[in-house]
Amino acid sequence: MIAYYNGHFCDKAAIVISPDDRGFLFGDGLYEVMRSYEGKLFELELHLARLAYGLDQLRITGVDLGQTGAMAQELLLKNSLLQGDATIYLQITRGVAERVHHFPAAGTPPTLYACARRLSPNRELPLQGVPVVSVADQRWSRCDIKATGLAANVLASQAAKEKNAFEALFVRGGFWLEGSRTNVFFVKNNVLRTAAADQFILHGVTRAVVLRLARSLGIENRESAVTTEEVAQVEEAFLAGTTIEILPIIKIDGRTISGGQPGPITCRLRDALRHLTAGLRVS
Ligand SMILES: Cc1ncc(COP(=O)(O)O)c(C=O)c1O
Repeated sequence: MIAYYNGHFCDKAAIVISPDDRGFLFGDGLYEVMRSYEGKLFELELHLARLAYGLDQLRITGVDLGQTGAMAQELLLKNSLLQGDATIYLQITRGVAERVHHFPAAGTPPTLYACARRLSPNRELPLQGVPVVSVADQRWSRCDIKATGLAANVLASQAAKEKNAFEALFVRGGFWLEGSRTNVFFVKNNVLRTAAADQFILHGVTRAVVLRLARSLGIENRESAVTTEEVAQVEEAFLAGTTIEILPIIKIDGRTISGGQPGPITCRLRDALRHLTAGLRVS
């Protein structure tokens, strides 16, 4: 596999990352996961805008994002991924420096790593739906930064796995916010609901696309998290994310919802998103 590391394309296995890298020592970095359909990058601008925002918030300087799209395309080409679906993982850290908590000397170059791999989406899950469980949100209060320090997400995801659930949903102060690696939408009284894009959720690219599709389909929607009380009354729910697209939820904490079937609004949005990406495949 060919990867990208600090300005060069090289064999992934040959990359050596310093133990003094601040990503390794502190989780002091950012990442992105982008997706390609038949070699076309999906919503590249939104991914780059989120990355630029994260760099600004973490005050990581010295990164030129101008060539990111071309670099991602090159990775797809070099790894024979122009056909079919693929994901591109990109990570930027504050670079290599002696271990002190505060920023290293000005001019310390950031570390930039990227790789691409084939994605073989599960065709059944979007039709069948998945179970999810809730977990207490133990993350920091800047979940809008796509930071690499993901220990709380790892624990949540593992908790879900141990309960045979597909995803864990973070609940903070009684509000159901998002999954460990996905955003979550609910339908209550025919209104589509998802948590507001504040500092307590990641501003998902798929989330933004789903809201755009909902508006164009005339589906009433509100950016306001559902509460534990309200979750008991939702008609439908689904997960949204770059790799899973839209996945219906059919069980929450062991309780069947939506009659154990993907709900009608969920299906409309799932199919609309599929239609959008199918357009990329043929264009
Ligand atoms: C915590 C969290 N929320 C939401 C998402 C979905 O974001 P996107 O649609 O940009 O993939 C992710 C994706 O990694 C995530 O980690």
